[in-house]
Amino acid sequence: MNGFDLLLRGGLVIDGTAGPGAARRADVGVSAGRLTLLPPGAPALSRETEDVGGLVVAPGLIDVHTHSDGVTLIDGEVGRDMVAASVLQGVTVEICGNCGSSLFPAPPERLAGMRAENRVAFGGDVGMYTGFAGFAAAHAAVPRANHLASLVGHGTLRGGVMGPVDRAATPGELDTMCALLDRALAEGAAGLSTGLIYTPGTYAGTDEVVALAAVAARHGKPYVTHLRDEMSRVEEALEEAVEIAVRSGAALHVSHHKTAGRFAWGRTERTLPRIAALRARGMDVTCDVYPYTAGSTALGAMFPPWAFEGGISALTARLADPGLRDRMRLAIAEGVPGWENTVGNGGWDRVSIACAPRHPETEGLTVAELATARGQDPLDAAAFLLLAEQGEVTIISHSMIEDDVRRVLAAPYSMIGSDGVPKPGGRPHPRWAGTFPRVLGHYVRKLGLLGLETALHKMTGMAAARFGLTGRGVIADGAHADLVVFDPDTIADGATFADPLAPPAGIHSVVVAGRTVVRDGAETGARPGSVLAT
Ligand code: ZN
Ligand code: CU
Repeated sequence: MNGFDLLLRGGLVIDGTAGPGAARRADVGVSAGRLTLLPPGAPALSRETEDVGGLVVAPGLIDVHTHSDGVTLIDGEVGRDMVAASVLQGVTVEICGNCGSSLFPAPPERLAGMRAENRVAFGGDVGMYTGFAGFAAAHAAVPRANHLASLVGHGTLRGGVMGPVDRAATPGELDTMCALLDRALAEGAAGLSTGLIYTPGTYAGTDEVVALAAVAARHGKPYVTHLRDEMSRVEEALEEAVEIAVRSGAALHVSHHKTAGRFAWGRTERTLPRIAALRARGMDVTCDVYPYTAGSTALGAMFPPWAFEGGISALTARLADPGLRDRMRLAIAEGVPGWENTVGNGGWDRVSIACAPRHPETEGLTVAELATARGQDPLDAAAFLLLAEQGEVTIISHSMIEDDVRRVLAAPYSMIGSDGVPKPGGRPHPRWAGTFPRVLGHYVRKLGLLGLETALHKMTGMAAARFGLTGRGVIADGAHADLVVFDPDTIADGATFADPLAPPAGIHSVVVAGRTVVRDGAETGARPGSVLAT
């Protein structure tokens, strides 16, 4: 009899599938990074045996939406807690490259310029790579606890080929973008992402995205989108995404689906039936969601897109001009066609400052409070802070209602994505450290919104199928040995807006590639994670 490296005895296996047999008593053996299921108590030899009676053994969780592209690459600047927050929840695969922004691919002559811009977006020197292979090699040099897969960001493609310009791509530029995307997908990137509220992605029209999504479709990989509007025009933005999917032939995945801002509250009662109807017709449409009523983004995204043309330095120059600030105030008050306008949909009192490295005393204040403290108009106070921070301010936007969040969580095609933005410093959104235990503790155990098997399927098998992670997201003979073992009676998120990196409760152990990376809620120091090609 061949022995196992690790044998988990006496647990309740929930195998990550959607079927009625997803939960059953079984022992789970791990050898050479692969799984074997055994009848409870079956005779077996193992180097290490653990009694996991009373605990759930599930496939390692897949966070389908992160901005953790470079967090382990930032040398010496990132807190240990920031890097560990994901794996401590049981996340064994993070999918980055979301919202139109990834660390590859770029034309070689633009690498240095884009590397400098990434310092602001990712909070440190994370590099920039010509292709997926270079990105994977950079990560291979820095051992990590869990695995990482990446989408190709449309904003990255566009910014690399065209620069930060507000115009349509020429046919030659579009060909270059398609060729870069094609190579990155062939090398193993997981799909195409857009962030159509962010510059430079927002400068693209529908046709440009259709052409790129068609490249993803040829690779059998999804089109993943942060919609052009998640507020008052969310339904029109969803229709644009549907049009892109239909015309390109790509599967559609809507990122962090929400209907935010007072004019869109309750609108999931229309968007979700629309998605369900498309699915009933045979269209492949899915989404992800995080379990909070607040979002988080850059303070710069509160300003109209024209203010950004030319990039961050051009924005800060415009913010210093009182006449242009008046034009921005007017744009926020009246709206600009095609622009989401978070503040016009909510108000500066719903926008709080999360990270402002040079002015930490402002962190936790709303922009309205900062304005009162400074005796200024809120837009002038926001401009002051952006100028002082050279464009680098993260905000939290309290823009959603609980009913909408619950409806999206309960939709049978929604997966869980933290949308975590792990940058050094400040008080980031607690979703990076709390998302998965919050769903399993608050929404499954406390509220009963979802069954445990259903919630785990969203976090494992459904996500693996969507993003082409073959042999993951399930507990089955021969599957990759990525596992989480937790106590369903105590699992809970610890992270809050005041203490955003506090670890969760109830996680017993986490196994990545057959090695235990978390034991009794703490990291073991093992670093078996790698960049996954799909
Ligand atoms: Zn996004
Ligand atoms: Cu995102």
